[in-house]
Parts: sequence; structure tokens; C-alpha cells
Amino acid sequence: MQTIKDIDVNGKKVLVRVDFNVPIDEKGNVLDEERIVSSLQTINYLIENNAKVILMSHLGRPDGEVIEKLKMDKVAKALGDLIEKEIIKIDDCIGEQVKARIQQMKDKDVALLENLRFYKEEEENDPGFAEELASLADIYVNDAFANSHRSHASMEGITKFISSYAGFLVEKEMTILSKITQNPEKPFVAIIGGAKADKIAVIRNLLNFADKIIVGGILANTFLKANDSNIGISKFDSESVNAAKELLSQANGRIILPVDVFAAKSIEKGENSKIVKIEKMTDDLMIGDIGPDTIALYKKEMKDAKTVVWGGPLGAFEYEKFEGGTHEIALFLSDLKAKVFIGGGESGTAMKKFGLENKVNFISTGGGAFLEFLSGKTLPAIKALQKN
Ligand code: 3PG
Repeated sequence: MQTIKDIDVNGKKVLVRVDFNVPIDEKGNVLDEERIVSSLQTINYLIENNAKVILMSHLGRPDGEVIEKLKMDKVAKALGDLIEKEIIKIDDCIGEQVKARIQQMKDKDVALLENLRFYKEEEENDPGFAEELASLADIYVNDAFANSHRSHASMEGITKFISSYAGFLVEKEMTILSKITQNPEKPFVAIIGGAKADKIAVIRNLLNFADKIIVGGILANTFLKANDSNIGISKFDSESVNAAKELLSQANGRIILPVDVFAAKSIEKGENSKIVKIEKMTDDLMIGDIGPDTIALYKKEMKDAKTVVWGGPLGAFEYEKFEGGTHEIALFLSDLKAKVFIGGGESGTAMKKFGLENKVNFISTGGGAFLEFLSGKTLPAIKALQKN
């Protein structure tokens, strides 16, 4: 994979796909600038080397519609404040007017195009749309690691029409994540929580090299169900129960499940929440978090680890009542003498919520991309760069 260091960008129009899919409020105000900050190394390098920098990103899931609060203006403002530079905000991402505005750009200028997903052709990986995007510049750079599991026009299709390179963020994430999966220092412990069914594939792949896999969140409910435990009225993924059963039988005890939980009649209300041993769970209860014996067990399983990877919270940490398990494990990891790598979805958010984001080796910008990488899949946008 070639990177921007491998080309002369002086005076060139460089189209950079960034992932500025930042959290926003109802009015579109940027709530967390982390993803913008993560691409500054690439942006600043291009400015310093006299390129004309044209940035493009998606924001949210507008599904081919123009949605006011998903316009990129406030993101442009946040970027401008960060790099102390006027950002040329262009109100579309393809077409003659966009080309004309780019034509007027001077070296070191920075422009940001409008939300790519206002066109449904972006997610459809439409070749015509990809070619239109490519026609805006001389060189294409992918710095959107967190979106690299998406086979979209600005990520994959475009590389067929223009010389394509990796930005510093993509290079860094790929180097670090490849080391985790190819040559991890052992013992290697993975903590996989959260809700999504696709995490079964992650666990299947982790069984090839992990010494222990600690499970939490709704995913743990699915595994408990597969283990014939009563999970009351807790959420679980019914379609994954058989797969979870199969994984438990292959794991030789390496998949570690909760032995007690914090449960209540309703997670939202959280009233009368109590600690319940798994074998004592009743039909009217819902699991909200792991319990104290489970926290102790999970710490014991991790204490000698040399590498820990964490993707997905261990309970419903968005509710104060049920954040305890995720918080305890986050604190434990921040002190552990091991290399700790964290996925950029909810577990990254949790580390920030607890003020521990600087206490671990690496928090990926990728949520879905991080997990797809851990599940052994080749990220399509990275593969497209490697073909170049
Ligand atoms: C992310 O936030 O994980 C990426 O920006 C991808 O966004 P998506 O899940 O809406 O495709």
C-alpha cells in the first residue's frame, strides 16, 4: 500500500476521503472533534507540501436525501478553528460548479465538499459517481479508516479512476491492528461486548489466536441463552444462539461468561435493580450489567495478559445505574501492564466518559471497521488501495 509520502503533492489537487462522521446534536453542532483531529496529520502534511487539499466525507445516514442538519458547514467551521485556517465550504460534491470552485483554489488552500451521502450513488458504489469524484483532482488519498469497511464510491470505486494512496491515519491504524492480529504478545485476551449480531464472526476469528474471550453486553445474553441459562426478559439475538452454542463447544473454556448480573424489571427505569446470580435469574428480570463476582472473575482472567483488545461495552453503560461493570473494567485496563487496544465505537466513548482515554495504548477511530478487521475480513477500501 503506497502512502502520501510516496508522491510529490506540490501544486497538485489532492482529494482526501476523511471520516468526519462526528457525533452532532439536533442542530448539527459538532459534539466531539476526535475524528477531525485524527486526520489533521494528513491535512497538515498536504498543506505544508503545497497541495490544494479537497476534503470529502459523509455525515450520518441521509440515504440519498439532502438533510439540513447533516450538511457539512459546522464540520468545516470546527476544522477551520482547529487548523486556524479559512475552509472553503463547497455546497455540493460533484458537478461543474464544484469543479469551477476547485479550479480557483491556490496551493495550501483547504476545501470541504458537501456530505457524500446526499447522493444515494455513494453507498451504491456507483461507477459514474466515483468517476465524477475522481475527476475533481489529480490524486486521491484515503484517510477514512473508520469507514474502510464500506465498499462505497468515495472509498472503493474511486480508486479505479485516479492514482490512490493511504493517508497517515489509515497507515497508522493498519500497522497497529495488523500487529494485534498477526503477532500479538501472549497471553492475549479479548473483551467483546455490545449488541450487534456481527460480533459472533469476531469471536469465531478470535478463537484462532486468543487465549481468553470475555463476553459482555447483549452478546453475553445470547451466549448465556446458548448455555441454557435463564436470561429472563433480557434482549438477545435469537438468530445467533446456535452459532454461539457451536462456538462454546469449540472454545475449550476460553469463552468467559457472566456468573452474576445487575438486573431490573426495566433497564430504562432501573427501579429495584439488584445483583442476581445467573442460576437465580427469574423470568421477570432484564440484565443491565455484569455483577461484582463477574467483574472479579474478568479481572482475574485479564491480570497476566500481555495484550488486551476491547470492543463493545459490558452493560447498558448509557444508564448510570448500569455503567458500573464497564467503568470497573475500563479502570482496570487503564492500570494493567499490558498493551491495550480499544475499538472506537461505544468502548472508545466509554473510555472518554470515564476520562481514561489517555491511559491505554490505542483507541481506534474505527468502530465497525475495527471489529470487521478483528473478524478477519479484508476491508474493501484498504484492498482497493493495495491493488494500486
Ligand atoms: C462509522 O461511524 O463507523 C463510520 O463512519 C461508518 O458509518 P456508517 O456505519 O453509517 O456506515
